[in-house]
Amino acid sequence: MSELHKPLEELGTPRPRDAKTQVSLEIDGQQVQVEAGSSVMRAAALTGINIPKLCATDSLEAFGSCRMCLVEIEGRKGSPASCTTLVEEGMVVSTRSDQLEKLRRNVLELYISDHPLDCVTCPTNGDCELQDVAVELGVEDSRYGLSGSNHLQAVKDESNPYFTFDPSMCIVCYRCVRACDDIQGTFALTVDGRGFESKITAGQMESFMESECVSCGACVNSCPTAALEEKSVIELGLPQKSTVTTCAYCGVGCAFKVETRGDEVVRMTPYKDGKANEGHACVKGRFAFGYTSHKDRITTPMIRDSIDEPWREVSWQQAIEFTARRFREIQAEHGRDSVGGITSSRCSNEETYLVQKLVRAGFGNNNVDTCARVCHSPTGYGLKTTLGESAGTQAFDSVAKSDVVMLIGANPTEAHPVFASRLKRRLREGAQLIVVDPRKTELVDSPHIRAAHHLQLLPGSNVAFVNAMAHVIVSEGLADENYIRERCEIDAWQDWSDFIRGEENSPEHLQAVTGIPATELRAAARLFANAGNAAIYYGLGVTEHSQGSTTVMGIANLAMATGNLGREGVGVNPLRGQNNVQGSCDMGSFPHELPGYRHISDPEVRGLFENEWQVKLHPEPGLRIPNMFDAAICGDFKGLYCQGEDIAQSDPNTHHVEMALKALKCLVVQDIFLNETARFAHVFLPGSTFLEKNGTFTNAERRISMVRKVLPSRSGKEDWEITVDLANALGYPMSYSHPSEIMDEIARLTPTFSGVNYAKIDALGSIQWPCNDAAPEGTPTMHVDTFVRGKGYFAITGFVPTSERSTRKYPLLLTTGRILSQYNVGAQTRRTKNTVWADQDLLEIHPVDAEDRGIGSGDWVGIKSRAGDTVLRAVVTEKVQPGVVYTTFHFPLTGANIVTTENSDWATNCPEYKVTAVQATRVTQPSQWQKQQVVFNQQQKAFLDKARKPRV
Ligand code: SF4
Ligand code: SF4
Ligand code: SF4
Ligand code: FES
Repeated sequence: MSELHKPLEELGTPRPRDAKTQVSLEIDGQQVQVEAGSSVMRAAALTGINIPKLCATDSLEAFGSCRMCLVEIEGRKGSPASCTTLVEEGMVVSTRSDQLEKLRRNVLELYISDHPLDCVTCPTNGDCELQDVAVELGVEDSRYGLSGSNHLQAVKDESNPYFTFDPSMCIVCYRCVRACDDIQGTFALTVDGRGFESKITAGQMESFMESECVSCGACVNSCPTAALEEKSVIELGLPQKSTVTTCAYCGVGCAFKVETRGDEVVRMTPYKDGKANEGHACVKGRFAFGYTSHKDRITTPMIRDSIDEPWREVSWQQAIEFTARRFREIQAEHGRDSVGGITSSRCSNEETYLVQKLVRAGFGNNNVDTCARVCHSPTGYGLKTTLGESAGTQAFDSVAKSDVVMLIGANPTEAHPVFASRLKRRLREGAQLIVVDPRKTELVDSPHIRAAHHLQLLPGSNVAFVNAMAHVIVSEGLADENYIRERCEIDAWQDWSDFIRGEENSPEHLQAVTGIPATELRAAARLFANAGNAAIYYGLGVTEHSQGSTTVMGIANLAMATGNLGREGVGVNPLRGQNNVQGSCDMGSFPHELPGYRHISDPEVRGLFENEWQVKLHPEPGLRIPNMFDAAICGDFKGLYCQGEDIAQSDPNTHHVEMALKALKCLVVQDIFLNETARFAHVFLPGSTFLEKNGTFTNAERRISMVRKVLPSRSGKEDWEITVDLANALGYPMSYSHPSEIMDEIARLTPTFSGVNYAKIDALGSIQWPCNDAAPEGTPTMHVDTFVRGKGYFAITGFVPTSERSTRKYPLLLTTGRILSQYNVGAQTRRTKNTVWADQDLLEIHPVDAEDRGIGSGDWVGIKSRAGDTVLRAVVTEKVQPGVVYTTFHFPLTGANIVTTENSDWATNCPEYKVTAVQATRVTQPSQWQKQQVVFNQQQKAFLDKARKPRV
């Protein structure tokens, strides 16, 4: 393509959907061929011809309000807007003429007459579309002057912590309103008034903070002027450099441009070509990066002999030698298996891979586990058993082809917001939604969206629910027999269908268990089974149960029985919580599996790794996280290397966890902050944030994306380098000069990654594994012609009620979840301005239960289970049903995990966070544990302060 034909970066209008044919036309004397359904503006931009525009942008459907993009078309009267005019075969278009320039200048002067002419001092000077158009048309002033009525004195809205709205800069192009409606799906903005009086307003003439705005930033991205502007740009100036990277928060894995000025991040803007997010973001990824430069960051290694002593800052060499010596001494005294490691889903694939390699090859055992143990380990087990691969089956854009979506135990509006926006768009287009959740989540009923069914099941009854759905489908003859005959094991199908037809699985029989009216469940099952394309999306509300693995298998059974696997628009889709849950599992973090989910006991697989790693591997699976805790309390497990994971806050039954951590002789924590776990540590190795290192993350759709270093590491080392140093100090040599070499090793050893390398990820933008000779550019949809295991397997899913039931002593069921503004244990988001939306965990309680107990919103409430008790403030709400209470787990002093028990999934030990029998009472003071925590925290802070030398 010649320079002349180089497409512009911004094409003005979106690519037409489902374009099948090409259209030829002439624009300014050039022959152009574009997809049918394209606008004239887009066709021109693809040819490198820029038509002035203000209200158009290629992330939004054309609107045609500004009249700046006028063109002339042979044989047509007047000057149509090129953004709203579609191309036609043989069309002849002129984008430049004296008449057009005159018309455009006239329109522009009207805009300028109501816009401050202070470009030189404007924060977006040089990054403003109005300014660009004015320069292009040579308009410096307006004939209409500024003296007429205008909006120049309008008051600026600075209520949002991250961006401002300055109405005096607004040209009422509606781009922000359309972005909020069409991209984000929140409908927070409107235009008040008509004609000249019209103005943009949030909510019902409220400030942005008072309105429904969720601070996703889509309106700010789309604003062509400085009317909506990031505060960071106003404070720091426009960025000078931009680097594409991947969000380090949730499992959606949004691509971002990190925009920097020197060594300072000015802003993060969602990357238009990012396949997971297509230019959209949420408040966390878009704005909550302040933690990366927070004063609490620890950047110097520290050691101590006991947790009752102050920390000592030391050099990297001293810290590594101290750790290696301690671990070798422990192994010499207590045996090879007395030490282990924990990887984290916050870390990159390369870092995680190295930690499990260190444990298996350096420690000589398989005592490695990951925080995915406590979230999605049942997904791995359940999907591997039924379909043959431990991963979701689709790409996110598949949802655009779904006719019915069943959302089970997931609240994407809060936890996976960018996927939620995609889903909402599809629902607004007419797809139907079934929400299966004990709580009334936003998707049940929100602007322009109403779920066809909200099946408000009782916590702990998931398996009963999936069985009842399957019962209706099989007994009413709604199963896809052809699909099953062709794709699944017939004997297993026969056994399962005989089982599921049993009366004990009928919705009527299970109604008392699930709490779902049988007629409604039957209607939902029919809707799901009769859909052209039915997709299931699920979250931790499925996995974090004593029968988490059984529910995952039940979900796979539902999808297979209705023929909803192996094409776009369908599938089984686990929504992963943290950024790299999928990757940490893929990389062999579980004690029984080497990378690529291959069992450690398989001599052939072990041989492959032994050959590459030049070491003999132990064939027996090692300890899982809960086993490590138990063994520590028993005195058999003494040393733990914990990279990027805060087990003291995130694991259940805090009393038990703390007891285990206190029993360790050497706890090594590698993190960016002195987290809750680090209070029990003997070695602190300062980690790097995602901005300070290279690597890859794998999101919930198996998409491997680059994490690119934009700032120097504050500690002087990237996390993978720390693991390499530790391995070498332990006497197991490791040598890499860049994480790309680690990925090359992963690819050599893992069939599903054999085609992956950094150069290819760079070239393609991202890759969904499997990526190998059979699929050199990756696999968006899995199980297309056949399942990975060959024939799909229907597992029998008998319902076994959890032992965690409400009793007279503990009459309420506590369930847990997340909120939009906070992330996981909150270590990052609590150190950002996101705390303006939530600065504590709250207990949601139904008005009936609240009244029984004399509890009002804002009261302190003590919740007590058989594991422990804690105190937090109440919110009285009908979002929860009577008998159920709900809280989040983002704030350490709330100690939600003080009350959660050690019940866990039968197959994987994933904790049963979602069901704890509790009592709630009104109280006036913190719990005993909370008081002790305050004292312990003060002591540990003093130990830290002693270590840190005064900084200039
Ligand atoms: S930040 Fe997002 S939610 Fe808020 S008004 Fe803008 S587009 Fe709407
Ligand atoms: S705030 Fe920006 S995007 Fe919204 S109408 Fe005004 S100029 Fe357009
Ligand atoms: S949706 Fe998830 S990945 Fe995307 S910006 Fe938000 S937190 Fe980051
Ligand atoms: S850009 Fe076409 S009318 Fe505004």
